[in-house]
Amino acid sequence: MTEVGIDAIEIRTGKLRLDLPGTFAPAQGEDPGKYTKGLGLNASSFPDSYEDIVTMGANAAHRLMEREGLEPEDVGRIDVATESSFDNSKPVSTYIAGCLEQVYEGKFSHANKGERKFACVAGTQSIDDAYNWIRAGRNRGRSALVIATDTALYARDDPGEATQGAGAVAMLISEDPDLVSLSTEQGYGSADETDFLKPNQQFPAVDGKRSVQVYLARMREALQDFESVADRTHSDDFAYIPFHTPFPGMVRKAALFGYRHMIRDTSIEDDLAEEIGRQPREEAFEDEEEYEDALREYMDGLKETDAYREWYDRIVEPTLTISREVGNWYTGSVHLARASALRTAVEEGRDLTGERLLVGSYGSGAQAEIHAETVQDDWREKIEGMAASLDEQLAGRYDLSYEEYERVHDVHNHAIELDGDIEELTVPDEEFVFEGWGRMGERKYRFVE
Ligand code: HMG
Repeated sequence: MTEVGIDAIEIRTGKLRLDLPGTFAPAQGEDPGKYTKGLGLNASSFPDSYEDIVTMGANAAHRLMEREGLEPEDVGRIDVATESSFDNSKPVSTYIAGCLEQVYEGKFSHANKGERKFACVAGTQSIDDAYNWIRAGRNRGRSALVIATDTALYARDDPGEATQGAGAVAMLISEDPDLVSLSTEQGYGSADETDFLKPNQQFPAVDGKRSVQVYLARMREALQDFESVADRTHSDDFAYIPFHTPFPGMVRKAALFGYRHMIRDTSIEDDLAEEIGRQPREEAFEDEEEYEDALREYMDGLKETDAYREWYDRIVEPTLTISREVGNWYTGSVHLARASALRTAVEEGRDLTGERLLVGSYGSGAQAEIHAETVQDDWREKIEGMAASLDEQLAGRYDLSYEEYERVHDVHNHAIELDGDIEELTVPDEEFVFEGWGRMGERKYRFVE
C-alpha cells in the first residue's frame, strides 16, 4: 500500500513577542516562576495589527509552495483548521487561496477548499481528511495543503491569558511523503464536554482546571483505543512523543500518565518496584478513593525516578522547545510539537529515518486522537529548511512592553472600536497583509513586496 503522510512543513509565527516572566508576570503581580517552572512558558507570539489567521496561514503556505517548487495546479485540496474564524459561511481557505493567487499565475480553481472545526484537534482532522482523500484515489496525483492557523487570545484577566499565542503551520500531505508517513491505526477518546468553548463569542469560556482533567481522560481513552487496533505501546517504541501543547506543563502531566501506562507489566516496572513499589491495580482495591490515593502516591514516586526523568528528557522534552517560546497555537500546537522534536534531532545530528513517533492530538469539547508516524528518508532536508526560517522569524519578533501588549490585545478584540490610527510595530516585508474591509464585510488582503 502507498504511504501517505506529511511531505513538508512551514511555520509562521505572529511577529510580536510578549516576555511572560519578564514583562507579563510583574505587571500581573505574579511570580515569574509560575511561567518558567509551572506552565513551562518563556514567551507568547502575537500578531501585529496587519496580521491575522489569513495572513499567517497564507504566508506559511506561500513559503511552503516556494520551497517545494509548487504551482496552484499541484494542489487538489486546501483545508484550513482554525477556531479563530471570522465568518460562519465563507471558509478561511478561500481567503488564503485568494492571497496565493495574487503571487502565482495559476489558480486553485479545481481544488476542494474547506474549513475544519473541532477546537485544537481540527488540524489533525484535516490531515486525516487529506489522507483519506489520497488513499481513496481521488487526488489525481495532486497533494493537499493543510493549514492550521489561530490567534489564541483569551479575555483580559482570564487565567488562560497566560497561555496565549498566535501563528500558523502549513503542511503538505502527499503520497510517498518525504517527512513522515501516517499509521492507518488511530485511537480516539471522545465525549460531550464543556471544558472550553466559544458559543458565538471571540474569547473562550474556559473551566481551566477541569480542562486539564478532561485532556488527560480523553488522551488515556485514545491511547487504549489505539492499542486495541495497533500493538500495545512500550516506552522504548518511539523516538519522540509529540502531544498537543496548550502549555508545556500540561504535557508534563500527560507524559507521566503515558509512561505509567506503557511500563505496566514490563521489566521496567519490575526494575522500579524496589524503589517505588509496583503500580496499584484497581482490582486490588475495594474503595475507589483508596485506589486513587495509592495511584497518586505511585505517580509522585515515579516522577522522581531516574528512569522516568531520563525517558522524559529524551522523548518528550524535545517536543516542547518551540511551544515554550510561542504559547498555544490551538490547531497548530501539536504540529509545532512534532516540528520541535525533529528540529532537535537535526541539531543533535541524529539519524531518525525509519524511527517512529506517537502523536497525541487533543481538542476541547472534547476529543483526543492518537496515531503513529514513521520518519521518512528525506526528513532532515525538509526540517533544516523549516528550522532556518523559523529561527529567523523567532529572533526577529518585536518585544512588547506591557502597555503595547494591552493595545495589541485591544486591536485584535472584535468588540473594541479603537480611536485614531492603529500603530504598526513592525514593517511588512514580502508578505501578505490585512488592509481593511470590503463592501460586504469581507476582509481584504494584499502582498507587500
Ligand atoms: P492558573 O490558575 O493561572 O495557574 O491556571 P496555577 O495557579 O494553576 O499555576 C499553574 C502551574 O504553575 C501549577 O502547576 C502551579 O503549581 C505552578 P501544577 O500544580 O498544575 O503542576 N506554579 C508555580 N510553579 C513554580 N513557581 C511558582 C509557581 N506558581 C504557580 N512561583 C490554567 C492555569 C492552565 C488552568 C490556565 O492557564 C488556563 O485556564 N488555561 C487555559 C486552558 C488550558 O490551557 N487548558 C489545558 C487543557 S485543555 C486544552 O489543551 C485545549 C485548548 O488548547 C483549547 C482547544 O482545544 O481548543 C486550551
